[in-house]
Parts: sequence; structure tokens; C-alpha cells
Amino acid sequence: MTMVHGIPIGAESAENWERVEEFQARPDDVVISTYPKAGTTWTSEIVDMIYCGGDPEKCKRDTIYNRVPYLEFRIPNMPTGVELLEGRPSPRLLKTHLPIQLMPESFWDKKSKVIYIARNAKDVAVSYYFFHNMVKALPDPGPWDIFLDSYMKGYVCYGSWHDHVKGWWEKRYDHNILYLFYEDLKENPKREIRKMLQFLEIKMTDDIVEKIVHHTSFEEMKNNDMVNYKTIANDVLDQTTTTFMRKGLAGDWKNYFTVAQNKTFDEDYKKQMSGTNLHFRTEI
Ligand code: A3P
Repeated sequence: MTMVHGIPIGAESAENWERVEEFQARPDDVVISTYPKAGTTWTSEIVDMIYCGGDPEKCKRDTIYNRVPYLEFRIPNMPTGVELLEGRPSPRLLKTHLPIQLMPESFWDKKSKVIYIARNAKDVAVSYYFFHNMVKALPDPGPWDIFLDSYMKGYVCYGSWHDHVKGWWEKRYDHNILYLFYEDLKENPKREIRKMLQFLEIKMTDDIVEKIVHHTSFEEMKNNDMVNYKTIANDVLDQTTTTFMRKGLAGDWKNYFTVAQNKTFDEDYKKQMSGTNLHFRTEI
């Protein structure tokens, strides 16, 4: 990892950072923004379904990482996220994990729409730990308790979860931002998709919304090779012991946190989240 304005970013992505900073947004761009493992792929598929009028066949035209490019993505011998996006006709869908202060200014100048998805810190920690074990380019997470400690301190890619969710929350009324929660989406996908539709100013019948709910359910997405990252080689993303579409639950952290870890985490959380009215549900 390399520090970019005080935030640890993957070393490859951090190279030539100007290409990200100078990215030219368009007014009809739709950005899906998250701290990693908060439901980026899920929301990306929902938004692409919306833009495809609820037609799952149209969403199968390509993999999710090509349909919704990753803004700051950069690895050798592949087109960067910026390159993929520059050649795209409007309206463009894109994803990012950047903390708000690292977002290219152009998104604010052009008043592009951003859907931010936040997920509770404990489920993100578990999901991120398993993800580190899958992605060969990420640092070896070591044992769970060591990873959890690094995560609490923000010594992981994209830095502190606490700062990320708070940063986007505090600025949500300054820009065109819809701030949603993974747990709400899990609890009532139809209601949350309706919020997205209203924000995107798109009208849709209930039948089509139902189709989107069905197509983007965990079970459907787990078995859909256009979204489950099975198209990525095992030496890059190793899905032999655990899969990208792992469990898709709210509250799975209880199977991994010990009582002592939970106590330490809660004490630290209280301090790091003091002074904000942002609240999360750790189960539904
Ligand atoms: P788990 O590891 O807890 O299962 P991201 O796309 O931001 O990397 O997030 C990945 C997490 O979202 C994984 O969490 C994955 O299983 C979950 N996820 C993906 N699609 C989902 C869906 N349709 N419903 C619920 N969770 C989903």
C-alpha cells in the first residue's frame, strides 16, 4: 500500500494519482461509493438493472467490473478504471472506495449523483478479512485477531472504516449524495430500490422493481457468473476456500468475534464514533 493524502491505497492504484484527481466527471454519471465490502457489487447490479429497465439479459452483456468500472483501479497490462470510463458513452455507472476527501473535484462541479452504501463495521471487518485471504494483491491479513486490530486502527486499504462512513455522512447534504445502509437493503430491498429510483429520477412499475429484487437477491447473484467474480483467475482472486459471494448476511460477525474482541471493539467504536448521529444496526 502507498499513502495518498494520508490514506493507504493499493500501491498500483496509487501510481500516477493525478489521473484519478483530474478525472472529468459528467452530470449524468452515477457513482456507487462504499468502504470495501459494504455491498458495492450488489448495489452496482441493482443500479445497472435500473438502467437496463429491469432486463436481466441486458445485465448479462458483460461482467460487473466492466459494466461498472472501478474509478481508481490500476494493475499492469489492463486498462485502468479511468481509461475504461473515458471511452464510455453516457450515462456512465462507476464505483469507487475513496473516502470523500479524495473524490475528484469534478464530481462535485458537475453535480454527479452518488449512491453511498454503508454497512456495519463488524460485518465489514469479517468480510474484509476473508477478502484479504482471497485477493493475492492485498497484504496477507495474518490471523483474524491481528487483522481486526489493524482494521480498528485503519491500517488497511482505504484506511479507517469510521472515518470513511462519517466523512460521507457529514457531507451528504453538500452534494448529490444518497446515503443508504446494507442492513436496510437486506431488510427491505424493494423499499431501498424505490429510494434509489427517486434519487435517480426514474419511474418504474412495481413488477419491474420486483424483478430487480429477485435478480439481485444473494442466491441469484451467487450463481450469476457476471457478478460473482468467478471470471477472475484463481491466482488473482482465490475462491477455492471461500467465495466472493460468501454469506451476504447482517450479523454474521457473531460467528467470528470472541467476547473479548467484541468488548474491545465496542469500547473503541464508542470513542471513534462519538459526536456523530450516524447509527448502524449490527443485526436485523
Ligand atoms: P460477505 O463477505 O459478508 O458475504 P463488496 O461488493 O462491497 O465487495 O461486498 C461484498 C459483500 O457483499 C459480501 O459480504 C457479499 O456476500 C455481499 N453481497 C454481495 N451481493 C449480495 C446480495 N445480493 N445480497 C446480500 N449481500 C450481498
